[in-house]
Amino acid sequence: MAMKNYRQFLFLLVAVVSVGFVSIVFVLQWVLYFKEGLAWDGGLAEFNWHPVLIVTGFIFIQGIAILVYRLPWTWKCSKLMMKFIHAGLNILAFAFAAISLVAVFDFHNAASIPNMYSLHSWLGLTAVILYGLQIALGLCVYLVPIIPESMRAVFMPVHVYSGLLIFTSVIATALMGITEKLIFGLKNPKYKDSPPEATFVNFLGVLIMVFGALVIWIVTCPAWKRPNEQLLSSQPTSGGDATRTMGGTVLSICSTTDWNDPEANCDTRKRNNKPDQSGQRSTV
Ligand code: HEM
Repeated sequence: MAMKNYRQFLFLLVAVVSVGFVSIVFVLQWVLYFKEGLAWDGGLAEFNWHPVLIVTGFIFIQGIAILVYRLPWTWKCSKLMMKFIHAGLNILAFAFAAISLVAVFDFHNAASIPNMYSLHSWLGLTAVILYGLQIALGLCVYLVPIIPESMRAVFMPVHVYSGLLIFTSVIATALMGITEKLIFGLKNPKYKDSPPEATFVNFLGVLIMVFGALVIWIVTCPAWKRPNEQLLSSQPTSGGDATRTMGGTVLSICSTTDWNDPEANCDTRKRNNKPDQSGQRSTV
């Protein structure tokens, strides 16, 4: 099944993966070249696992997990297979985030630094807990076979909203953490004096922001949604017809939307609620 604006999708996909990779290279360069390296010894080198695992797992892997349903090459895979891939990547990202928290708590305890005093730590721990809940609920609702389709459909808008809320909170929390670390860690010269480390890590922050923005753009474009299962099996060649204005508003959506798929009939951007060509209404 053809994808509308395939070239634009491909360009954005290459951009998002490249920006993600460069962010990982930047965070590694930060801790290995500017900071104390990586170790598990209760010292600053153990703390450094915190940003490395967050950028690699909680940001990059989570971003890819959000996008997997959009990849047109996977549309021939079964929905169940895609659910396993989506869930597996999210569980991996959660594991990275959890280990990164162990590293920072361990470091704080070894150095007798109080725990959970900063806004960064409050929002960060909240994001990790909500992410864990999101995964647990997602597994129960979408992978336990006895759950009725109607319940899956009702839960889908919540799943999509909370997934994007958590992802954007993670980006914001990471930017707060980066700023904190630069203020704490740069003494002579200070952050305000713009030493090379400060400029380099500011760029890392910009990359993380751009990565998040690209993920959100791709995932909220209705034209790039995975078509519903009936369409995939019955219309091997037809393309969809969704259009986006400069401001991101969807003007029209035709055949590739998921009008019949209870697990996919929530768009993150509001669709018009008029009947489609077959007279059906969106149930969002
Ligand atoms: C969204 C991703 C992140 C989450 C969920 C997160 C979570 C946390 C948590 C829960 C703490 C408190 C640990 C304790 O009190 O013992 C903490 C501390 C810290 N984090 Fe992060 N963090 C994230 C990203 C980052 C990044 C990318 C950096 C950059 C270096 C960073 C820097 C720090 C620093 C300096 C501390 C110690 C000071 C403080 O407690 O605020 N964090 N983080």
